[in-house]
Amino acid sequence: MSLSSSSATLPEPARASPNEHETTDHARQLGRGERFRFGENWRRFLDVLDDDRIREAERSLRELLAVNDLSGRSFLDVGCGSGLFSLAARRLGARVRSFDFDPASVACTAELRRRYATDDDEWTVEEGSVLDASYVDSLGTHDVVYAAWGVLHHTGATWRALEHVARLVAPGGSLAIAIYNDQGSWSHRWRFIKRVYCSNAAGRRVVCATCIPAFVVRGLVSDVIGRRNPFARYTEYRRNRGMLVLHDWIDWLGGYPFEVAKPETIFDHFRARGFELARLTTVGGTVGCNEFVFARIGTASPARGQGADAPIS
Ligand SMILES: C[S@@+](CC[C@H](N)C(=O)[O-])C[C@H]1O[C@@H](n2cnc3c(N)ncnc32)[C@H](O)[C@@H]1O
Repeated sequence: MSLSSSSATLPEPARASPNEHETTDHARQLGRGERFRFGENWRRFLDVLDDDRIREAERSLRELLAVNDLSGRSFLDVGCGSGLFSLAARRLGARVRSFDFDPASVACTAELRRRYATDDDEWTVEEGSVLDASYVDSLGTHDVVYAAWGVLHHTGATWRALEHVARLVAPGGSLAIAIYNDQGSWSHRWRFIKRVYCSNAAGRRVVCATCIPAFVVRGLVSDVIGRRNPFARYTEYRRNRGMLVLHDWIDWLGGYPFEVAKPETIFDHFRARGFELARLTTVGGTVGCNEFVFARIGTASPARGQGADAPIS
């Protein structure tokens, strides 16, 4: 697959699971100021996406899943956002299915597929919600289910979403998730800030005008005290999964709905459903996401692996 690209107007998203309720639900949530426009943020990110960021996303995915490649495996990207990790998985050899609740995110992923994998029938992109039980049942099971970096805790029903992703993992398969750490009263404050951000344009301006300078100053103070180059945190930020600092800030400030969980409750949830923990990276009681990779106990069937076998009951 080539790394060359060209930019163009984002295409209309495919809708493999026509579901008027979910689509209108997304628009209604936006209208009520109850949802962040993730897709718009990703659209801006695509303008700066380059080969280095793609390679960094590949590297981080290999490290997360502790694999060299994903040849012969099916990869389900739940809440694909920009589509960067779908692209990374495809470049690592996986058959990829990507979906997102936000039509603008679906369009971003479709645009990445158009740029880097035109006519690739091993990568499908569609609109769907991880909360939609009948859609989830239609997806079958997959060797890797990737719902990392801020998907399930932005659904508005984290525990239902967690229940659903567990059903999507094939025996012997992996599930990667990242869930905001529960910081008690601090989490309540952050929820309020995100709610203000999403409420209207004035709310957005107030939140950005206060929080972004605060992030810059906090970083500067910490670098000066730690005798580090204060510019390095920005110039080297792409090492963080290939992301861009401003997009991550906006995603953080606006990312709503916003729910949190303690790492042990996530661990207990999956252990009770036949998973074992393969990898855990916590934020050590601070702000941010705890990252988990679970392995579903069982042996992969050699006959399985098309990623859309019998519906799960
Ligand atoms: C922070 S982005 C993460 C994007 C990407 N997975 C990554 O790692 O960069 C969260 C994404 O989850 C999507 N999302 C939120 N609720 C969803 C739902 N119910 N079903 C599927 N996707 C959802 C959002 O639209 C958004 O694109």
